[in-house]
Amino acid sequence: MADGHAEVLVVSDFSLAIAGEEKLAHLSFTLRAGERVALIGASGCGKSLTAGALIGLLPAGAQWHGSLRLNGHEVAGLHPARRHAPQRAAAIFQDSASALNPLVTVGKQLMMVPADLPGDAAARAALLLRDVGFDDPAAILPRYPAQLSGGQRQRVCIALALACRHRLVVADEPTTALDLATQQHVVEALSRLSAQPSPPALLFITHDIALAAHLCQRALVMVQGRIVEQGAFEQLTRYPQHPYTRELVEAARRAGEAITPPPPAAAPVRALG
Ligand SMILES: Nc1ncnc2c1ncn2[C@@H]1O[C@H](COP(=O)(O)OP(=O)(O)OP(=O)(O)O)[C@@H](O)[C@H]1O
Ligand SMILES: [Mg+2]
Repeated sequence: MADGHAEVLVVSDFSLAIAGEEKLAHLSFTLRAGERVALIGASGCGKSLTAGALIGLLPAGAQWHGSLRLNGHEVAGLHPARRHAPQRAAAIFQDSASALNPLVTVGKQLMMVPADLPGDAAARAALLLRDVGFDDPAAILPRYPAQLSGGQRQRVCIALALACRHRLVVADEPTTALDLATQQHVVEALSRLSAQPSPPALLFITHDIALAAHLCQRALVMVQGRIVEQGAFEQLTRYPQHPYTRELVEAARRAGEAITPPPPAAAPVRALG
């Protein structure tokens, strides 16, 4: 599975309704291995519902139709507990504190994931922490989540997602609660995902087009449960078609934010073997 062009996720005409009200309408998009794609849209447009559908957590009573194929397997409506490995996606949420067990050290949480990496469990955990930008993993491994900053915790969550070796990583507003400098660290850790030997596809959910352009090659623009536009950032920012995309691009320009596509992914820090 080292093929950088393999289709990891194929969403075809996926719609979802809650209590008879359509919330997601006819979503169609594809994510390939190693790609970083942003899902951008205003609050309430359906970004987190999309994330939930992908990882298998739908609101009670949700009705859906269409197809979500992960690594060639249909997963629409399938709860995470009923998914086997190729049908699972890693999820990173805004609230890193609630994603980690407060009573277990970072090292133990990382060692609980059966990672197929060389070396003993502690060495693997240290490597994973290096991959998300910790220069001194030995100092982080014995700490409890509460002894880390929000940005550090978020990077530990990314390390856990890495350890799971899932082919799809869904990050739902992972940097929204962080200050700008810390956001940068987390974005760098996410960008290193694609430098892994067998890189996952990343769906980065945000309302911040400048941040998305910094991390991702492509974007899906969502308005009221529909993807109204999708394409490479260069195309989207130069020739935005939909009024909402134009509004986003103009607002970012007015704020003086650079909306440029990212450089190629940084080389992995890890030396394997
Ligand atoms: N569990 C639920 N039950 C009922 N309605 C829900 C549920 N979750 C989301 N919704 C509704 O679905 C719509 C989309 O919500 P969603 O959480 O996906 O928005 P979002 O784009 O993630 O917004 P934000 O940027 O604020 O996180 C909203 O109208 C919301 O009220
Ligand atoms: Mg949301």
